[in-house]
Amino acid sequence: MALVSSFGRAPKPVVRPRSLVDVTVNETFTWRSLPAAQQPEWPDTAALDGVLTELASYPPLVFAGECDQLRSRLGAVARGEAFVLQGGDCAEAFNAVSAEHIRNKLKTLLQMAVVLTYAAKVPVVKIGRIAGQYSKPRSKPTETRDGVTLPVYRGDSVNGFEFTPESRIPDPERLKRMYHASASTLNLVRAFTTGGYADLRQVHAWNQDFVRNSPAGQRYEKLAKEIDNALAFMQACGVEPEEFRTVEFYSSHEALVLDYETAMTRTDSRTGRLYDVSGHMVWIGERTRQLDHAHIEFAAQVRNPVGVKLGPTTSVDDALALIDRLDPEREPGRLTFITRMGAKKIRDVLPELVEKVTASGAQVAWICDPMHGNTFEAGSGHKTRRFDDVLDEVKGFFEVHAALGTHPGGIHVELTGDDVTECVGGGDEVVEDDLHQRYETFCDPRLNRSQSLDLAFLVAEMYRGQ
Ligand code: PEP
Ligand code: CO
Repeated sequence: MALVSSFGRAPKPVVRPRSLVDVTVNETFTWRSLPAAQQPEWPDTAALDGVLTELASYPPLVFAGECDQLRSRLGAVARGEAFVLQGGDCAEAFNAVSAEHIRNKLKTLLQMAVVLTYAAKVPVVKIGRIAGQYSKPRSKPTETRDGVTLPVYRGDSVNGFEFTPESRIPDPERLKRMYHASASTLNLVRAFTTGGYADLRQVHAWNQDFVRNSPAGQRYEKLAKEIDNALAFMQACGVEPEEFRTVEFYSSHEALVLDYETAMTRTDSRTGRLYDVSGHMVWIGERTRQLDHAHIEFAAQVRNPVGVKLGPTTSVDDALALIDRLDPEREPGRLTFITRMGAKKIRDVLPELVEKVTASGAQVAWICDPMHGNTFEAGSGHKTRRFDDVLDEVKGFFEVHAALGTHPGGIHVELTGDDVTECVGGGDEVVEDDLHQRYETFCDPRLNRSQSLDLAFLVAEMYRGQ
């Protein structure tokens, strides 16, 4: 795979002057001597160092013990005993850190998880693309509009979405804003998931808005009634387990801007091991998973559960080498492969990968990202995805695993809880002419809430039918 730096030149190894960050982690962070794709070209490296030093002094966003717990949950997925629901925005945005946006996203994930748990009868590991998903790899370093060329938007952690020269300059102060935005998001998520909002007796309350009247919302309402009955029965029998009151929910994001991830990486006092405490799980994207480069080196050094995105050109040798680098101890739950092949290719390219990885004795969790291989440009110029392609890729994923006798371990989706028009199709159909109405994403098109619920019902049927 060609190595492309953020601005199209061969990346130079990043060697920084010694600072607090370097004193604590430089010896350990061997990634610094390797080429790193997709890194911002910060114009002021002294300012960047100041920010990194400050970030390194901030409290962790997650506790290493929570990362261990997620690793063990993903171990159950790798063994075929549980299913992952991982979802959230393509790119979180600073101006969307509001109670309403966060609650809507969480509601969507909780509703999907309830559908999957109840209809597919499988424990669901819930992971948000949330509280840290602010950095984006891009296919081109620049963007041209009406003859004006500017650096491309790389996510709110780096520069501004607005198409002006000032806004597109990478500003390291944004890394601190990302930390604070992640902290306040996670704080609210923790409050919602443990403070009563996620209590199973609230299943109807999550459906009390625009989604209620959509076909998926009505189907959900029926399922929620059945759950109510089951809960009432259990209560009458004197059974009221704690698990019904709270939800275990984890955060995840792409570990892209390595300076930030490194500043947030700490030695765990219990074990002496390194953890990236900016999120429970981190993944390495399709564009930065080169074996001998910086991102894989970074991921190899942290103890978090890690994911790697695998696109349609992934070879068996790549997959096996990634396992050797990232999961040398062959620990179920440590490594998740998130495949994003595209609906047209998955049935051709996934079987050999799964077969050879399984034959090697490794126990990875396999998750299907049916979004990133199915993007196209609509006539109106909007980047979009067809609900039917998304569904077909998940179907292909289930078919491949059924044929090999392996476990389809979960789905990874880009979604929002808001009533947007970014992907076409679904039971409450969005057509191409609707796309302009509420097209709000800063990056890739997301499923809206009723499309997400539709998907959950259909995936539950596939899971049951395998
Ligand atoms: C993403 O998950 O938003 C992404 C960029 O994915 P990929 O690395 O699979 O292209
Ligand atoms: Co995306």
